[in-house]
Amino acid sequence: MSVDGGRRGIAPLAEVRPADRPIVGECHVPGDKSISHRAAVIAAVAKGTSRIRGFCSGADCRTTLDVLAALGVESTTDDEVVIRGRGRLIPPDAQLDCRRSATTMRLVAGLLATTAFRSVLTGDQQLLGRPMDRVAEPLQKMGARVNLASGGRPPMSIEGRSLTGIKYRLPVASAQVKSAVLLAGLRASGATTVAEPVPTRDHTERLLAWAGVPFHRQHVGDEVLTTVRPADPAPFDVTVPGDLSSAAPLIAGAALVPGSDLVVRGVGLNPTRTGFLRALERMGASVEVTPSSGAPEIYGDVRVRQAPLRGLRVEPSEVPSMIDELPLLGLLATQAEGVTEIRRASELRLKESDRIAGLVTGLRVLGADTEEARDGFVVRGPTPLRGGRCHARADHRLAMTFAVAGLAASGPVVVEGMGFIEDSFPGFLEALEGLR
Ligand code: S3P
Repeated sequence: MSVDGGRRGIAPLAEVRPADRPIVGECHVPGDKSISHRAAVIAAVAKGTSRIRGFCSGADCRTTLDVLAALGVESTTDDEVVIRGRGRLIPPDAQLDCRRSATTMRLVAGLLATTAFRSVLTGDQQLLGRPMDRVAEPLQKMGARVNLASGGRPPMSIEGRSLTGIKYRLPVASAQVKSAVLLAGLRASGATTVAEPVPTRDHTERLLAWAGVPFHRQHVGDEVLTTVRPADPAPFDVTVPGDLSSAAPLIAGAALVPGSDLVVRGVGLNPTRTGFLRALERMGASVEVTPSSGAPEIYGDVRVRQAPLRGLRVEPSEVPSMIDELPLLGLLATQAEGVTEIRRASELRLKESDRIAGLVTGLRVLGADTEEARDGFVVRGPTPLRGGRCHARADHRLAMTFAVAGLAASGPVVVEGMGFIEDSFPGFLEALEGLR
């Protein structure tokens, strides 16, 4: 494997050669990106010092710390991230640059809706193309003044107001929107309830409880209702487990390369995130999970051994629990016997790139039998993969998927845009190389 030089954002190339031996060994991955963002954002509005161990080293989480710094929240990063919250934010001097991180923008929007000043959230060209109306709408309903550019895209200006709690049913299954509403609800009058037709990751709820904020969860029919009331989070210490979404490409590599046996240690096992492991097991791989008792998040070790794979059907209700791993599942499906169909996953078109188009185009270059559906994709396997050139479309998850495809192909796979792995998993190529 080789990576040519070049700075991040200039789309350096990586060439990944076929695996000539099994992937055997054990490894750790960077801290969970979703949990790191949330820990920083909640610590920012707590009054006092919070300590976050295992904070994700990816660029997106650094962006959250920088945006919070612009709002007067001091932090230091050493072995752990230490955040000195003042219990309130101060007006920024300039627009808040969320760079490429939609999670930063959507979570911070929830905090800004409660402030007494106006601020503007902006970002890189890629982020300026992502939908923010989904978060603006409930915050407006709560009383904040939120303005977006045309098409509901950023920049997003927010003028905080005194807010009123609402009951809001999520029109799309989005943990980021749920989190923004719950965070705004901490400073709204009365109760704020979010109803989810399909449950999404619950890291915000767990961390709020860890910071002493009570919330109420209730199942009514098919819906999950989460309610918060006005409260001040207390400062906290937390350890962030490894990111299962970063472990997933290494796990997929082990599931593809004959004779592989890989253990990923200390990885988050929150059931709202482990859909990929359940799917992999259904496909026929050997997946052993050894949980440790962790709080606020369950974590543990995952051992994966290669075995013949079969295609699978993913139920719509499973999609949020594996949303970021669906491109990897598509890759695995190329080596699985039968048809794999992923539907009701149109959210994939609104991620860092249109992941349905990017995945299908890249896998076809390598010889896969796959096609796009309006809201997902279909893969017929198994088909041998050949070497080729795949474009990551400035998307870290596609970059990692195509790099792993290189292990299973008959010739080298060149990935354009490999540098974007920095968003979530700096050192990914070295980790992969270390296991070969
Ligand atoms: C995330 C939620 C998901 C996921 C993203 C991280 C989060 O997005 O795709 O990578 O941290 O809440 P949505 O909430 O938009 O579904």
